[in-house]
Amino acid sequence: DWTMGAYREEAIQKIRDQVGDAKVICGLSGGVDSSVAAVLIHEAIGDNLTCVFVDHGLLRQGEADEVVTMFRDHYNIPLIHADERDLFLGELDGVSDPEVKRKTIGRLFIDVFQKHANDIEGAAYLAQGTLYPDVIESVSFSGGPSVTIKSHHNVGGLPEKMGLKLVEPLRELFKDEVRALGRELGLPESFIGRHPFPGPGLAIRCPGEITPEKLEILRKADAIFIDQIRKHGLYDEIWQAFVALLPVRTVGVMGDGRTYDYACAMRAVTSVDGMTADYYPFSHDFLGETATRIINEVRGINRVTYDVTSKPPGTIEWE
Ligand code: XMP
Repeated sequence: DWTMGAYREEAIQKIRDQVGDAKVICGLSGGVDSSVAAVLIHEAIGDNLTCVFVDHGLLRQGEADEVVTMFRDHYNIPLIHADERDLFLGELDGVSDPEVKRKTIGRLFIDVFQKHANDIEGAAYLAQGTLYPDVIESVSFSGGPSVTIKSHHNVGGLPEKMGLKLVEPLRELFKDEVRALGRELGLPESFIGRHPFPGPGLAIRCPGEITPEKLEILRKADAIFIDQIRKHGLYDEIWQAFVALLPVRTVGVMGDGRTYDYACAMRAVTSVDGMTADYYPFSHDFLGETATRIINEVRGINRVTYDVTSKPPGTIEWE
């Protein structure tokens, strides 16, 4: 009968068969998927694996430090911390179209991996934590017509010029199975339970043009929303929660002054696999308290809304 323990052994053997003595680089995003992929591959091939964590300037508050600390200190997996904030934010300057954002980010990720692969002698493979739903959603949508809803930057193969082959050990798994595999591999529960975070990061939670100022405002509001969810003990009931910063300023009043600041939207959904989702039914007390905190604590936001769209017809991310 089928167990995660057996799956783990099988997956490790498959990785060894595929890559042999070659060196592998693994793009680490800090999310559960790429972390589980990295730990699994490390079990299979040891230090022939090098992880590359790209800070594209689109991460959440404190995220880069958390990821680097966890991998360097707890796992002893060779890790390159690539600070590419200027590169990504520079190329995204003035870009507002969602697909152009996604494709730009995908292309830059490949450039950065390529640069690091060139420095590692014998590097022949790039590993990614691609899951089954990523594979399907990039091709068609819930049995509907074959249209691309969103270009996931981590699917679709690699440009030939990169000269690297793909290793995707999680390609047949759904999220709950990846979490079970992560537990089997001994990853800490606090890490396994983390909400998913998309490769393009805050870029797709900031509709319209991205600026460093907007990203800073978004980070602060997002951190408060997550803090509230944790304080109320709701984190584990929710599939994913985040704030999107809206590209619109509205008029408000604070003290006896007029404000003209950004509006934001809180988004929280329940889901089993990310393919369909329902908005989370927070109490009005929770919503009111959180909105008040965001407006009081974040300079630059004077209006908070809650997104009550399910998927379909919405998607989880705003872009
Ligand atoms: P959507 O917005 O398509 O999101 O309903 C479904 C799930 O996928 C995540 N997502 C991504 N993950 N690269 C990723 O690694 C991406 O380009 C990407 N786009 C969306 C999203 O956060 C949600 O969990």
